[in-house]
Order: sequence, then structure tokens, then C-alpha cells
Amino acid sequence: MNYISSLPQGNDKTFFVQQMFNEVAEKYDLLNSVISLGLDTYWRKRTLEMLMIPSNYKKPVLDLACGTGDFMEALIKINATAVGIDLSMGMLRNGKKRQNDLIQGKGEMLPLKDNSVGAVVSGFAVRNFTDLKAVLEEAFRVLMPGGRMALLDVAQPNSKLLKLANGIWFNHAVPFIGGLLSNKNAYAYLPKSVGYLPGESEFKELAKAIGFHHALRREISGGLVQVFLASKHSEDDTQKSSHD
Ligand SMILES: C[S@@+](CC[C@H](N)C(=O)[O-])C[C@H]1O[C@@H](n2cnc3c(N)ncnc32)[C@H](O)[C@@H]1O
Repeated sequence: MNYISSLPQGNDKTFFVQQMFNEVAEKYDLLNSVISLGLDTYWRKRTLEMLMIPSNYKKPVLDLACGTGDFMEALIKINATAVGIDLSMGMLRNGKKRQNDLIQGKGEMLPLKDNSVGAVVSGFAVRNFTDLKAVLEEAFRVLMPGGRMALLDVAQPNSKLLKLANGIWFNHAVPFIGGLLSNKNAYAYLPKSVGYLPGESEFKELAKAIGFHHALRREISGGLVQVFLASKHSEDDTQKSSHD
């Protein structure tokens, strides 16, 4: 399958992304550590800190597009309860080696009840979603009032030097390493998929229109990665604003 000729949209994108992750699933964890130079664990930890999940958090946390469940593992380490949902059976099958609460599903149509999770976290999936607006609407629907969302993904660093190094790494080294260890076309798609990412103001407008508040974007590691954050009004906030 040629992943790089153009960026697919709509159902073509869903099919394409699902196929691609099914194909790379077995080597995904290894490649993830190699291409992030081991920084992915730190980025997940920082994202959970931004989400402000306390240890022993009792409400379920949704790992949206969980893949093989790396965020779930990080959540389990702090004794939080995690549920993972992903489009790709291949990714979930590899995740099953580590945890059980994994469900196949689409972020655009979550198989969860309204107000049923305390927080939503997601790693490296924003650019892979077919319909980001629908995913954010679903995240808002399933979040309990007062719940927070944090979506981690790659970014374009600001410093010229870091941007140059990042470009060489993602455009040349990553497809080469991907070809050696897994699937070259899939890993050549990675830098191109950055084109799907929303800018800060686009994300904020989208989140605000859906009903989220405190929508913001934070960078980690000099902008190598970014986190899109937003929260759902708590019942107290809603009561306060109706009395204003
Ligand atoms: C780059 S992987 C990230 C996996 C994991 N979250 C991590 O941090 O390593 C992207 C994941 O998003 C999933 N995905 C893509 N589009 C999706 C959608 N519309 N709904 C649910 N999962 C989706 C893919 O199947 C894949 O497992």
C-alpha cells in the first residue's frame, strides 16, 4: 500500500489509518521508542501532569486511540483506572499483552455513556483522526462535568536548529529506520501527517464552539511535541455562571 502519494480524507483516511496501524502494530512499541529517542515516556508523564490526575484517582480515564496502551500503562502506574479505545485491532491485540480494558472503536463515535469518564488523554493520534471536530464532541460528551482532556502529539519546534534537526530526523532517518525495522511507507507517512494538525487558534476555536473552556496548547521539549488541553465546566461553574 502506498501511504505517501497524498493525504487521504473521510472514509478513505479511516481505512488507510486502520490498515497502516494494523501493519505496524507488532513493531510499534520498539519503533516508538527509537524514533522518539526514548523521550515518549517522559512526554506521556508530562502530559499526565498537565491533566492533573492525582494518584489513586478513582474515576475512569479514557485513553483515546490507545494503540498498544502506553498511556494506560502510565495511568496504571499511578493507580488510576484506565479504559482504552482504538480503531486498530492489530494495535489492541499487541496491547492485550499488557492490559485488559481495551475496546475497538472510533473516536468519532465512542462506545461510552454521557458523563462517564473523569478525564480523556490521547497520545499521537490527533493527526490520525478522520474528523477531529467529531472526536472533540465525543470527548466532551463522555467527560464528567469538571473533567479535563489532554491530547499529546508531535509539533514543529520553534528554534531554527531544532527545526532543522527535527526535519532531517523525521523526513530521512525515521523512514529509513522504519524500513529496516518495520514498514518504510508507513513511517514516511509520519512527517506528512503533521499536515493534519490544527494550529493553536484553530484548536481553541473548535474546542470553545463545542463547549470546552480553558482550551490551550502547551509545548514540551522545545516544541518537539505539543499538548492540546481543555476542560468541561463543572456543575459549580455552570451554577455560578447562571447566577451571574
Ligand atoms: C500513533 S498511534 C498512537 C498510539 C498510542 N496512543 C501511543 O501513544 O503510542 C495512533 C493510534 O490512533 C489510532 N486511531 C487513528 N484514528 C482513530 C480513530 N478515528 N478512532 C480511534 N483510534 C484511532 C490508531 O489505530 C493508532 O493506534
